[in-house]
Amino acid sequence: MRFDYHIKMLRGFRVSGRARQACVAALVRVFGFCAGLAVMLTCFSAGAAPSHLDIGKNPAGCSGCHKGHGKRGTAMLKVEKKDYCFTCHGASGQYFRPRMDIATVLMKRSHHPVVETSLYHDAAEELPEKNSSTPRHVACQDCHNVHDSEPDKPMKRTKGHRRGDREKESTEEYEVCYRCHAESANLPSGNKNIADQFDMNNASYHPIEAMGKSSRVPSLMPPYNVASRITCSGCHGNSDSSGPRGPHGSDFEYMLKSQYIQGETAESQSAYALCYNCHNRQNILGDASFQKHNFHVVFRHAPCAACHVSHGSRQNSHLISFSAAFVDPAPSPTYSPSLAGKPMCYLTCHVGGVAVPHNSNFYKKKKWPQ
Ligand code: HEC
Ligand code: HEC
Ligand code: HEC
Ligand code: HEC
Ligand code: HEC
Ligand code: HEC
Ligand code: HEC
Repeated sequence: MRFDYHIKMLRGFRVSGRARQACVAALVRVFGFCAGLAVMLTCFSAGAAPSHLDIGKNPAGCSGCHKGHGKRGTAMLKVEKKDYCFTCHGASGQYFRPRMDIATVLMKRSHHPVVETSLYHDAAEELPEKNSSTPRHVACQDCHNVHDSEPDKPMKRTKGHRRGDREKESTEEYEVCYRCHAESANLPSGNKNIADQFDMNNASYHPIEAMGKSSRVPSLMPPYNVASRITCSGCHGNSDSSGPRGPHGSDFEYMLKSQYIQGETAESQSAYALCYNCHNRQNILGDASFQKHNFHVVFRHAPCAACHVSHGSRQNSHLISFSAAFVDPAPSPTYSPSLAGKPMCYLTCHVGGVAVPHNSNFYKKKKWPQ
């Protein structure tokens, strides 16, 4: 057993699952605890050490997770796939720290189904999935590479995906998400390809993959400006801001960090808290951009989602895409941005129990957009 061979494997050298298993088995069985410490001390003490290989943080070393032949179907891991991270990232135990308790977050109303589906994870799998009958899954190690993760880089050296680069090492958070939320053949029916929604060729999008298209977004609050990029976890994450960060689970639907009501409701800071995390409420309701924001949102109780999508809009600028819950689908509703903040929309809107047709007659009567 050559030492550098194991190190190469730790660094992501690709070999067959069986060879890898044999290797961990040998390492852990023959050298056990001491080998772990030796590897950790010789290879990982220079520079910022990954948390799991830092004996100051994880005194158990490799054997905190690996043991002998391990459990069937795992990379020589001590416990079943669905349980192993929880020995330290659970609600109790020797290493309990509130910010590290992921088990409790995964029990929230909306959560990644890690406990339910991680048994389907296979270290040798290739994602996005090409076979529509493969069960859909998500496991901790789909988003974290525990041999490399660091406190401020929890996704370091995980696999990612983007258009034109099927399997790469991720450099951006969204690339990790696209392994399962882009063109996967086994997406549940009704779920969209999220990568299409953030496509840079769309008329508008929140700036995930690239800078946004608009140079006039007066509501943005520092540190954000029109040149900023944001991440998926800017909106999807823990509803408890003092708990562990990350899109593990939330009390709000769609695993959103803050509340975002999509039905008819009285306007308040909390009703649209998600948007108001980055967009100034006074500025929006003060009609600094769209001159009828206040009328629709405050006076008519129309939610943001009646007019805006939160990912991207293929056809319209300013993230405009009307919700079928408020706007009749036929004839096809249209949005024409005209004078700054005084656009014309041709559609029929239902709010407060009345249908309001927006046609040329309506605009003539309202003397809009003069
Ligand atoms: C925090 C838990 C944890 C610690 C500590 C840990 N490992 Fe792992 N290791 C894993 C997991 C989880 C996998 C399986 C990854 C997968 O399924 O994609 C793995 C897989 C491996 C593999 C298989 C190849 C691969 O990268 O998939 C090797 C080899 C390995 N570990 C060696 C070690 C050695 C040597 C140490 C100590 C220096 C160590 N591990 C410490 C959790 C850990
Ligand atoms: C869908 C992807 C995904 C899955 C699955 C996932 N995580 Fe995370 N996790 C993240 C992201 C993204 C962050 C960092 C968010 C940030 O920086 O705001 C994170 C952060 C963390 C943190 C650091 C929390 C903090 O506040 O510093 C821990 C610990 C963690 N994850 C453990 C786990 C464990 C254990 C599992 C499985 C039970 C798991 N994660 C499953 C994406 C994921
Ligand atoms: C033997 C205990 C132990 C096990 C098992 C364990 N972890 Fe950790 N984990 C830790 C410790 C300790 C930290 C660092 C906590 C701190 O910095 O306060 C940590 C931190 C993390 C972080 C934050 C980023 C970082 O590297 O600092 C992530 C993500 C994470 N663990 C994921 C996992 C996943 C996924 C698994 C299962 C494959 C796992 N852990 C299993 C002990 C463990
Ligand atoms: C390994 C696969 C995988 C990865 C990687 C992944 N997810 Fe998921 N995600 C799932 C599965 C499975 C579900 C459950 C619903 C489904 O099948 O789409 C889900 C559900 C969601 C939901 C919807 C929750 C709800 O209640 O409707 C959101 C939001 C989400 N993921 C965001 C993310 C983000 C953000 C990332 C990247 C940080 C990410 N996911 C990475 C597999 C994954
Ligand atoms: C994490 C921060 C963040 C959150 C949360 C956020 N936004 Fe944004 N938003 C931005 C940034 C940055 C831009 C600027 C993009 C640009 O210049 O095109 C932007 C731009 C916009 C635009 C203008 C896009 C254009 O092309 O004109 C609209 C509309 C918008 N956001 C609506 C919303 C709504 C609705 C919500 C709540 C669901 C929301 N935002 C939540 C950061 C955020
Ligand atoms: C500006 C806030 C914001 C950002 C940034 C954002 N989302 Fe969302 N996401 C939402 C909201 C709000 C919903 C629920 C309403 C909807 O479907 O539009 C949602 C819904 C979802 C869903 C469930 C609906 C479905 O069609 O499957 C998934 C999955 C998802 N987002 C993934 C992602 C991923 C992946 C990213 C990053 C590439 C991302 N989101 C970035 C706000 C955001
Ligand atoms: C009745 C439709 C409608 C509703 C409801 C609506 N908006 Fe808008 N919004 C627009 C239009 C149209 C524009 C583009 C104005 C222009 O021409 O520049 C816009 C522009 C924006 C912008 C970009 C410019 C800026 O102000 O920074 C943001 C951000 C925004 N809206 C957020 C919101 C939020 C948050 C809500 C819910 C509280 C909301 N909107 C409700 C129609 C609407």
